[in-house]
Amino acid sequence: MIGNTLHLAPSILAADFSNAGNALKVVEESGCDYIHLDVMDGSFVPSITFGSQFISSLRSKSDLIFDTHLMVDRPERHIESFIEAGSNIITVHAEATNHLWRCVDMIKSGGAECGVALCPGTSPSLIEPILPVLDYVLVMTVNPGWGGQPFIKEMVNKVRELKARREDGGYSYRISVDGGVGKKNFREIALSGASLFVMGTAFFNSEDKKAFVDSIYREVEDLC
Ligand code: DX5
Ligand code: ZN
Repeated sequence: MIGNTLHLAPSILAADFSNAGNALKVVEESGCDYIHLDVMDGSFVPSITFGSQFISSLRSKSDLIFDTHLMVDRPERHIESFIEAGSNIITVHAEATNHLWRCVDMIKSGGAECGVALCPGTSPSLIEPILPVLDYVLVMTVNPGWGGQPFIKEMVNKVRELKARREDGGYSYRISVDGGVGKKNFREIALSGASLFVMGTAFFNSEDKKAFVDSIYREVEDLC
């Protein structure tokens, strides 16, 4: 028994940006409720993707849960604009700010759910004081910055550790994973305690998205 409802969040990073509205439609039709939006600033990570204006333009096209992943330095400068753009969840990196608690306050008081992401080399101990107030902890299972990288298998232990901390502390955050996630490793990660699965390449490269999503859930149906 896994205990938590599992959800997939396809990442728009692997979609065709010139037809992003259609990508949202494809995600909806596949049976997913979330779209993961990777914002990169060319500083915290080398790549640059898009900003709040892009997200705002997508908002009117879809009722999907907008899960905005800010891979930007000093995210406190931008949180307000990503809330205004219609993000339902905003995740900031623990490594990107000296003012994590302030970021969390800004996100929550803006009416969005709050996540904190950890790069592969960052220990959950770094965010211990803030765990009681988080909605999500995002475990990066690749080094942030690019899609299509191989899953770092050691990160499964980090998911297990976060699950144990949640149980010990009586916290309620969900654990999400991002990077190199697909059919091959879904079952093991789900068993370790994650319940929100970001998938870029695996989702958008699949021929039949609905069949892909169904097959993913079949991997764990004996556990739910
Ligand atoms: C990487 C991003 C991911 C990326 C995942 O820095 O945060 O969300 O889109 O892509 P895949 O699933 O292809 O590893
Ligand atoms: Zn991401």
